[in-house]
Amino acid sequence: MVLLIKDEYPEKLFREDGKRLDGRGNLELRPIKIEIGVLKNADGSAYIEWGNNKIFAAVFGPREVHPHHLAKPDKGILRVFYRMATYSVWERKRPAPGRREKEISMIISDCLEPILFLELYPGTAFEIYIEVIDADGGTRCASTTAASLALADAGVPMRSLVTSLAVGKIDGELVVDLSGIEDKAGDADLPIAITWYNDEISLLQFDGVMDLEEMDKILSFAKDAASKIYDMQKAALKKKYLTIQEDVLKQQSGGDK
Ligand code: CDP
Repeated sequence: MVLLIKDEYPEKLFREDGKRLDGRGNLELRPIKIEIGVLKNADGSAYIEWGNNKIFAAVFGPREVHPHHLAKPDKGILRVFYRMATYSVWERKRPAPGRREKEISMIISDCLEPILFLELYPGTAFEIYIEVIDADGGTRCASTTAASLALADAGVPMRSLVTSLAVGKIDGELVVDLSGIEDKAGDADLPIAITWYNDEISLLQFDGVMDLEEMDKILSFAKDAASKIYDMQKAALKKKYLTIQEDVLKQQSGGDK
């Protein structure tokens, strides 16, 4: 493990053996663990551990809009509140939501809105609360991925799930799923999201330098990596319903005795 103090960045982001600092290959994802329905009070929820990121997403709605003046008479609204806990990063982050959190909330909302049928819910709101408990790069992507699962867990009609991840370039090489240090010390960082019902990219941000040929390549790497995450998302949703089915069957067989 490489120990980094404060904002000192390593000179190289690849080890002698050609692997990235955390031991991954260029196209390898960090370990991802997903759980659905983890919060009792929310209509739907998800928890994601993605590398060192730990994130909860809670969905409420459709419900009354507060403040009332935000309500739209012809459609529902989607409100996203992305927050990073004060203790989620090395330095003490201010507890009040800053500009970055407001921007990320807006981005996530823009990514998720196309998958919802908001026109069916006039005058109401869907609210998604995202809490980043531990952060290590790509939290907006992990949050979007978790939020789409929390919506599915709430039983909200959706066109499809959304998968998001950050890809980019470090020390001149293309890589998928940047870690915190790769995000900060790398050459380019591209958070992207894919909506699966139309196979379209619904988020593409870009910070850094890359030529068009590299851009084409990295987008194709991103799609391959996203489809692996999509499989994990579907497996996590299925697992929840299989567990419920098993519980019901157990209860039924207990009741028959
Ligand atoms: O998390 P994401 O990559 O979507 O957003 P970012 O603004 O590019 O931040 C990259 C990483 O920097 C975060 O995931 C955190 O690990 C770290 N960060 C931090 O240490 N302190 C902050 N106030 C904000 C971000």
